[in-house]
Amino acid sequence: MKRTLIRGGTLVTGTRSWVGDLLVIGRQIAALDPGLATSCDEVVDATGLHVLPGVIDDQVHFRQPGLEHKEDLTHATRACAKGGVTSFLEMPNTKPATVTVDLLHQKLEMASSCCLVNYGFYMGATPHNVAELKQARRTPGIKIFIGSSTGDLLVDQQEALERIFAETTLPITAHCEDEAIVRANAARFAGVHDVAVHSQIRDHEAAIVCTRRAISLAKRHKHRFHVLHVSTAAEIAEIQQHEKLITAEVCPHHLFFSVDDYPRLGSLIQMNPSIKFRSDNVGLWQALLDGSIQVVATDHAPHTLEEKQQPYPASPSGLPAVENSLALFLNQVNLGRCRIEQVVRWMCEAPAAVWNLKDKGFLRPGYDADLVLVDLQSQRTIRNEEQQTKCGWSPWHGDTLTGWPVQTMVGGQWVFRQRQGQDKPWFAASPMGTEIEFDHDGPGYWGRTDWGQENI
Ligand code: DOR
Repeated sequence: MKRTLIRGGTLVTGTRSWVGDLLVIGRQIAALDPGLATSCDEVVDATGLHVLPGVIDDQVHFRQPGLEHKEDLTHATRACAKGGVTSFLEMPNTKPATVTVDLLHQKLEMASSCCLVNYGFYMGATPHNVAELKQARRTPGIKIFIGSSTGDLLVDQQEALERIFAETTLPITAHCEDEAIVRANAARFAGVHDVAVHSQIRDHEAAIVCTRRAISLAKRHKHRFHVLHVSTAAEIAEIQQHEKLITAEVCPHHLFFSVDDYPRLGSLIQMNPSIKFRSDNVGLWQALLDGSIQVVATDHAPHTLEEKQQPYPASPSGLPAVENSLALFLNQVNLGRCRIEQVVRWMCEAPAAVWNLKDKGFLRPGYDADLVLVDLQSQRTIRNEEQQTKCGWSPWHGDTLTGWPVQTMVGGQWVFRQRQGQDKPWFAASPMGTEIEFDHDGPGYWGRTDWGQENI
């Protein structure tokens, strides 16, 4: 088995950082600080670099099958590798939507031949597919669109929701925007083509009412539940009453963009849930820092520029982000707004714990060697023409960030390299990603007791 020694980097976990060596044997992390005795096939000098567990993005839309003109698994997973994302969990609103076990297995089969990073796929709920949801095992959990978004998945009838929460056992996650409120607002603003109205249609109330409704379902049925893409500061009070059942996540666009950015970026930042106010950015950031929100994910949702440039409301909601999300947070580390250990907790350890990913997310002997080496000094400007995502644009085009992934490893194999001063990134030629395994009897985020014990 191949032995790789990553020497002299700063190893970072969710609780601490120290300068040390990391030994990889085959697909696994064999040891942290193994000493000098080992002979290796490859020694990587990581002096000056930080060594992190690979990012796990638990909310992406990679569009295959059916919408490959926007994105596909080959492009998307290159974007992941470049962004330091070594595992992704993909949403079911493809074409067809992933609403049967058969369709789930077809997706897994398709992914096995083209993914540079590790893959998992959610089951989508419909009002009538509880039997399928109960049978599915090779999935992190169940996604419910309680409010509609891209695609036609929607479950907003109370009876159907009660049944899903009552009869299934996999963790549930949901898109929370109240359908009735959104529809009523849309009718009020019919004929308005200024995209800024999107945040008045998908307003604060729509998000808060629906998140409250979903949390109430989870508590009554004692069902583990993860709130996707929290967009308002007011939702945080709901999430804080978690009773060890509820976790939540925030996305970069809800932290770094507000309605004040519509004049500059227009429909590029049209998202569901919508972008909100500056005060929401501040409240959400605070909730991340104090642990009220546990996870950072992207909701990577590519559409072509041509599609985005249609006049509102024909312009679709969604933006691409996997390739820049880690850098956006490393930049925050450099700005002094958070610590790199917190970034590891939010983007690597916490999503692994929420979804009970087997042997992933932590820098630990015996865990999978999914790693990212980052250079906190490296400065790059995000450019549309350099994006690996098939849609070929980024809402952060023109922004210069300090702190970038420079080398990514998946299952003990390098998949991406780009050091400071190099224009062209290198990518592995063959797909290295494998199917993510889930321990459905695992403790979940609140039950996990081994945080910070990296040498066990
Ligand atoms: O803005 C969004 N776009 N939000 C979602 O929930 C779905 C996504 C998409 O798939 O385009």
